Amino acid sequence: MTTNLTWHNTCITSEDRAKLYCQRPATVWLTGLSGAGKSTLAFALEKELILGGYACYVLDGDNVRHGLSRDLGFSPEARKENIRRVAEVSRLFNDAGLIAISAFISPYREDREMARRIIGEDRFVETHLSTPISECEHRDPKGLYAKARAGKIPDFTGVSAPYEAPEHAGVTLDTSVLSVAESVERMVEHLRERFQLC
Ligand code: ADX
Repeated sequence: MTTNLTWHNTCITSEDRAKLYCQRPATVWLTGLSGAGKSTLAFALEKELILGGYACYVLDGDNVRHGLSRDLGFSPEARKENIRRVAEVSRLFNDAGLIAISAFISPYREDREMARRIIGEDRFVETHLSTPISECEHRDPKGLYAKARAGKIPDFTGVSAPYEAPEHAGVTLDTSVLSVAESVERMVEHLRERFQLC
């Protein structure tokens, strides 16, 4: 569909923008079941980074589905399109010099690999919230597992739709044993080592 289009270049490079913010851009991609704590950790990490003087922004699954992806459902094809869109937005954020924190169930390995390709291996930090489904279902903060078990939500991840766990995540966090502060500390530690955050 990309016909009759021309790419326009700017004389400002991605490095110029990164220098402005004194940081190397990255995308922290949080994947895991509903109720694993993706949004909680995404916003806690954002707070920690902002207080530390880093420019970042959270792309949250539920929030994005109120706007950018409001036309999408939860079939495998719709989820793929959701992940493609947010990966492209994450890439743009990174190009703008920002750290993106992208929190999406993103249950399919193939779709996360697509996100990795779009964003670029050197900027992509796959972060797996490995919290067991028993714990997520016990928490059930939005009452969705109960509805899904009652057959009221089709294609619900972990109940009637699959979740394919990452095999080589950069960071793995089980929020049934780690506190929010401990999880944030591990993510910051990883970013510090890999992207020289101070
Ligand atoms: S993803 O699979 O496309 O990555 P995303 O993270 O954007 O999902 O949205 C997940 C959120 O949508 C959940 O936190 C939950 O509140 C809501 N939701 C509604 N229906 C479903 C469903 N069938 N499966 C999973 N989450 C659902």
